[in-house]
Amino acid sequence: MIGRVDLRRFVNTSGLRLARYKRLARLVDLRPTDRIVDIGCGPGVRTIAAYNHTNTIVGVDLLPPEKVKLTQANVQYVQGDATNLSVFRDDQFDVAFSIGLLEHIRPEGQLIAAIREMQRVAPRYIALVPHRYAFIEPHFQMPFFSAWPGGLKSAAIRRFKLGSQSRSPDGAWQRINWLSGADWLKLFDDPTARAYGHWYGPLLQYTIIVGGRGLSDGKR
Ligand SMILES: C[S@@+](CC[C@H](N)C(=O)[O-])C[C@H]1O[C@@H](n2cnc3c(N)ncnc32)[C@H](O)[C@@H]1O
Repeated sequence: MIGRVDLRRFVNTSGLRLARYKRLARLVDLRPTDRIVDIGCGPGVRTIAAYNHTNTIVGVDLLPPEKVKLTQANVQYVQGDATNLSVFRDDQFDVAFSIGLLEHIRPEGQLIAAIREMQRVAPRYIALVPHRYAFIEPHFQMPFFSAWPGGLKSAAIRRFKLGSQSRSPDGAWQRINWLSGADWLKLFDDPTARAYGHWYGPLLQYTIIVGGRGLSDGKR
């Protein structure tokens, strides 16, 4: 490794995150009494809970509880795997969020399991994933990185520490599901689901997938 590139050092992302949360909440028609499950909530600083101090929220992640700093009264943490949420009943929640989770779950069978669990535990759901051809790919922070030939990706990752990605000592790196909105909709397999683009500042694009019972197109 001879260099490190991390564009987040140059951008104040808190306003972008807040605007993104507000859009997600509107698209999924979030109501004040909704019980939320935030699947793949992360360690705490960027969860849904960072923007919502009133709804009841259960955060779920693979992380051990000691790594998660969720101390708000409205939030509870449950360590668990998104592909098997059997600790929760069908429709135990009103809304399921997953922000930056589904692009990491592989292979496809596991990814579909995670999507079905999300659809099972809440009647309304919303997921945010990187755009297939984001101008700046959010994990590696290189222009159109998802479209680079595989060998070029591996060579760049071997030589540089790109973005937030960590590699194992043998140079292996975590593959990302870079899918189009249409491909995501096929995986969600739900006639109510819709995919939307989301600009996160001028350079990063994401895809939002929202669906479920009780959502009208007029609200989205
Ligand atoms: C990029 S972080 C996103 C965190 C947070 N949602 C956010 O918006 O910043 C992805 C999170 O998904 C979690 N994760 C990955 N695979 C998972 C799985 N199978 N089940 C539950 N969580 C998982 C990781 O531990 C990590 O905290």
